Amino acid sequence: MRIFRCALIAVFLPSLVFTTNSTAQAQQLAQTPPMGWNSWNKFACEVSEQLIGEIADAMVSSGLKEAGYQYVNIDDCWQVSRDAQGNIVADPTRFPSGIKALADYVHGKGLKLGVYTDAGRLTCQKRPGSFDHELQDAKTYASWGVDYVKVDWCYSEGLDPEVQYVKFRDALAQAGRPIVFSICNWGVKAPWRWGPKTGNLWRTAGDISDKYDSMSLIGFGQNGLEKFAGPGHWNDPDMLEVGNGGMNRDEYRTHMALWALLAAPLLAGNDLRSMTAETKEMLTNRDVLAVDQDSKGVQGHRIWEEGPLEIWAKPLADQSQAVGLFNRSEAALKMALDFKAIGLNGPAKVRDLWEHKDIGTVRDSYTVEVPKHGVVLVKVSR
Ligand code: GAL
Repeated sequence: MRIFRCALIAVFLPSLVFTTNSTAQAQQLAQTPPMGWNSWNKFACEVSEQLIGEIADAMVSSGLKEAGYQYVNIDDCWQVSRDAQGNIVADPTRFPSGIKALADYVHGKGLKLGVYTDAGRLTCQKRPGSFDHELQDAKTYASWGVDYVKVDWCYSEGLDPEVQYVKFRDALAQAGRPIVFSICNWGVKAPWRWGPKTGNLWRTAGDISDKYDSMSLIGFGQNGLEKFAGPGHWNDPDMLEVGNGGMNRDEYRTHMALWALLAAPLLAGNDLRSMTAETKEMLTNRDVLAVDQDSKGVQGHRIWEEGPLEIWAKPLADQSQAVGLFNRSEAALKMALDFKAIGLNGPAKVRDLWEHKDIGTVRDSYTVEVPKHGVVLVKVSR
């Protein structure tokens, strides 16, 4: 019996040691939810080195970089084939200088570059996937200076995501460069259960679209997942649609406020080269971004609901709380935040984060009108 136990330990120890190492490496990254931009929501397959370079320029000139955005991520369609040695090949028409040159350009702006692949044989747009090329691709990305990789789940028939994504994690760990690992399998097989020891972020649901119904279904559907998130490993309800035109100001404020309360990755998905002042203000509102990026790294959750009205709260490092009063109904309604619901007895200081306005000290509860599909986002402190 004793011999049998020893044999078991001997067999399993090396893999345990390896798992711990690669996880530790991954978790030094993304200590706060990653912030940046991704090409998919606005440009789909219309990606090129010119576009990515111009987006990097705009990230700096628009003030997004200064507000904390850093990853410039190319989504599907940058890759076309594999060469005779099996190396992944970037589209030579759209990326004539190659991905390494683009990474150098983006790094020259003080930003970071991300790419996209798929754990299956093909990407969702039928470009070559990374199945059976995990280590080779990870090494290629590292040699190009890539800082972030999103790994999709199309054409993965018969594969187990828990196994497949671990292969990719271990490949990245061997590639010799810190690369943020974004798991994108749309919530299949509850990635929040195995994601924290596998990647830095994992999609929890299907694709967002630029509509209030889609955004709110995904966003408000995140309740309960908060216990799986923390520094280095985040739930990902998908990229932002802010500024793409399908929602009004109040609906986009709901989108940003909810994602901030969820400690969600903030990957802008609009054309940064031609933003309205309203979109820019929404994406760069310091008070709102500070909620998302708070160093405590706690994902908020729903603390109250009644019909279409919901209140969500997120504890912050300075002992205060960010609280969102959301009105999902079709008309403006008054809502009241009872301080007892967030564990406070007596008066508290309230600051309206969208309006950058201190409301002052309020007794017992805060009552405010919330627009249709809108939010009032406040910080409440002693
Ligand atoms: C989907 C993914 C999207 C986008 C798209 C590209 O599976 O969820 O975010 O990457 O593939 O084809």
